Amino acid sequence: MRKLIMIPGPTNVPDRVVSAMLAPMINHRGEEFHELYRRIRANCQKVFQTSNEIVVISGSGTAGVDAAVGAIFSEGDSVVVPSFGEFSARLGDSASYTGASVMRPTAELGDAPSLDEVEKELRSTEKVKALCVVFNETSTGVTWRKLKELGELAKRCGALFVVDAISVMGGEDVPVDKLGADICIAGTQKCLAAPPGLVIVSFSPAAKQAVQGKKPRNQYFDMPKYFQFAEHDETPSTPAIPLFFALDEALKMVLEEGIQNRFERHELCAGAFYKAFESLGLKPFARHEYRSNTVIGINYPMGIDDRKFRAMVDERFGVVIAGGFGKLKGSMFRVGNMGEIDEKMITVTVSAIAESLSSLGVSCDLSKALSQVWKSFSSVHP
Ligand SMILES: Cc1ncc(COP(=O)(O)O)c(C=O)c1O
Repeated sequence: MRKLIMIPGPTNVPDRVVSAMLAPMINHRGEEFHELYRRIRANCQKVFQTSNEIVVISGSGTAGVDAAVGAIFSEGDSVVVPSFGEFSARLGDSASYTGASVMRPTAELGDAPSLDEVEKELRSTEKVKALCVVFNETSTGVTWRKLKELGELAKRCGALFVVDAISVMGGEDVPVDKLGADICIAGTQKCLAAPPGLVIVSFSPAAKQAVQGKKPRNQYFDMPKYFQFAEHDETPSTPAIPLFFALDEALKMVLEEGIQNRFERHELCAGAFYKAFESLGLKPFARHEYRSNTVIGINYPMGIDDRKFRAMVDERFGVVIAGGFGKLKGSMFRVGNMGEIDEKMITVTVSAIAESLSSLGVSCDLSKALSQVWKSFSSVHP
C-alpha cells in the first residue's frame, strides 16, 4: 500500500514528477543538461520572485545552509541568528562553524523573538555582517511573519539578510526581491513536492560581492565556482541528474497552478486542519498569529504516548505523521501541509488521527471534525 506521507518533508511526490526521473541519463556537460539547468533556474526565479542569481546544489537543505553561510562568513565576523527552535538553532550552528561570532536572540518555543530584541543585537556591536533568519521553524510550526520588517532592519544596520525558507517556499509568499533577501534557501522535498536531495539558493548582487572577496572553505561549496559554471549552464561537480529531471517537472507543476493559487491552497488546507483539530479539543502549539500554513504542530492531550499513537496512525491507516523535535519530543505531533495537499488528504489524515486518539481513550467526535473540513472547502466545492 502506498502510504500518505504527511510529515513536514519529504512530502508526497506527484506521479508526473516521479516518472520524470525515469528518463535516460544525459551528459551533464552537454546541451540537454544546459537547457534543463537554464529552465530550472529561470523557473526558480519565478517561484522565488527574484532576478537574483540561482544555484542548485546536489545535497539536502543543510547543504544549502552550509554553502550560503560558509560563502559569506569568515573567522571573527559578527552575525545575528534569532533562535526559536531546532532549525533556527542549526542555522546559528552552521554560522558558528565558519568561526563567526553568533548572537542569538531567543524566544520561547512556539513563539518568535521580538523585533526590538533583534534590533538590540544588531546594534550591539559595530558591524554585523548578516541577519540570518528561519522563516518557517519546522520544529514548532511557527512562521515568523515579520520578514519585511526583518529585511528592513537588516538593511538599516548595513547587514546582509539571509532567509532559510526551506520548509515554506512554494507554500507561502516569499517574494525575495521585495523582501530584500540577499540569500534565500529553499528545499525541494517540501512545498515544491519534488524528492529530497537538491537545494536551491539565490544570491543578490550584494551577496555575490560578499562571496567573491573570500577564499572558499572547501571545494564542494565553492560558490564563486558555482557562479562561473552557471554562466555556461553547468554545475562544478556532477549534478544528481534524475533529481534535476524531477525538480524541472515539479517547478512546471507549480507554475501551471500559479504561485498565488498555490499559496491560497496551502492557506485553505492549513485552515481546515486547524479547525478540524480544534473541534477535536486539540490545541495548536504555535502562537496564533505565527501558526504555520505548512507545518501543523499540535499538542498531545494528556496521557498520549507519542510512539504508540503515531504507530497506530501509520499501521492502521497508512498515514505517516511526525513527532516533536528535541525538547518537544513526546509532547506534540506535526503534520506536513505541503505540496500536493488537498481536501481528500486532509480528510484521511484527520480521520486517522481522530480514530487513533479515540482508540487510546481520548473522546473525539470525528463527524464534527470532518464537517469542519467540509465547511472549509465549501467555497471551492462545485
Ligand atoms: C527550516 C529548515 N531548515 C533546514 C532544514 C534542513 O534540511 P535537510 O534536512 O534537508 O538537510 C530543514 C529540514 O526540515 C528545515 O525545515
